[in-house]
Formats: sequence, C-alpha cells, structure tokens
Amino acid sequence: MTDQVNELISKCLQARDMAYCPYSRFPVGAAVLTTDGAIITGCNVENASYGLTVCAERTAIQRAVVEGHRQFTAIAVACEIKDRFVGPCGACRQVLMEFGPNWTVYLSKPDGSYKETSLSELLPQAFTPGHLTEN
Ligand code: THU
Repeated sequence: MTDQVNELISKCLQARDMAYCPYSRFPVGAAVLTTDGAIITGCNVENASYGLTVCAERTAIQRAVVEGHRQFTAIAVACEIKDRFVGPCGACRQVLMEFGPNWTVYLSKPDGSYKETSLSELLPQAFTPGHLTEN
C-alpha cells in the first residue's frame, strides 16, 4: 500500500510540473487512483479570462472519465507550499463527491511527505447524486 501511495504522490508531483499557470504562478498537481489500480494525473490549466481556469483535481477526474474510469479509491494533491498541507478547493471537493464519498485524500508536500484524510472529512454533509433519486 505504501508503495502505491508513494507512486501516486510521485505522479502527482510530476503532473504539477506540467501546470499551465502563467497568471497565478501557482502550480498544482493531482493524481487519482482507480479501483483497478490505474493512476490518472492532472494539473491546473489557466486561462486569460481567469474564470475558465480548471484546477488540477478536475483535470485529472475529467481525463480519467474519458479513459473509462468511474470508480476511484484515492487522490493525491500537491502544490509548492512546503510548510503545511494544502487541501483541494471546495469546487473540486464537490466534483470528487460526484464519484462517491469513499475517497482517501493524500495532501502532499513537494518533498513527497503527505497527510492522509478523506473526502467525507473534507466535505461533510455533502450534496450527492443520491439526493436526486430520493424524491
Ligand atoms: N488550484 C488547483 O489546481 N486546485 C485547487 O484545489 C486549488 C487551486 C489552482 C487554480 C489556479 O490555477 C491556481 O491554483 C491558483 O488558484
């Protein structure tokens, strides 16, 4: 398990190095782990209109879905901040929740160290697809 987590974080950091962020100069990487063991990565992709920027986490999810993956177990996220662990933005938390509440989230630092948390902890009492079928 630890090897797999280290690989997830390593790929997340590689993806961060591909970030297109000329406006914020704040590169972010993400790597999602699927139930069948595949790792799909993403980076933030900014836009001159600012508002059309896509976060690393959402880039990773969208790539994964295109490649046929809809079941996930974990995501690693990393930026360049060295002295504390940084979590995904609220919009990305909601997008992860679309694919279920059972995500392990690894908040990673540039040196590969990480803090393990969960999506349910990051987005309690979330609105989920299940709510649409309850009525
Ligand atoms: N960003 C992400 O990629 N993920 C997050 O969870 C938070 C923010 C990006 C968006 C933008 O390109 C830059 O970080 C600064 O906000």
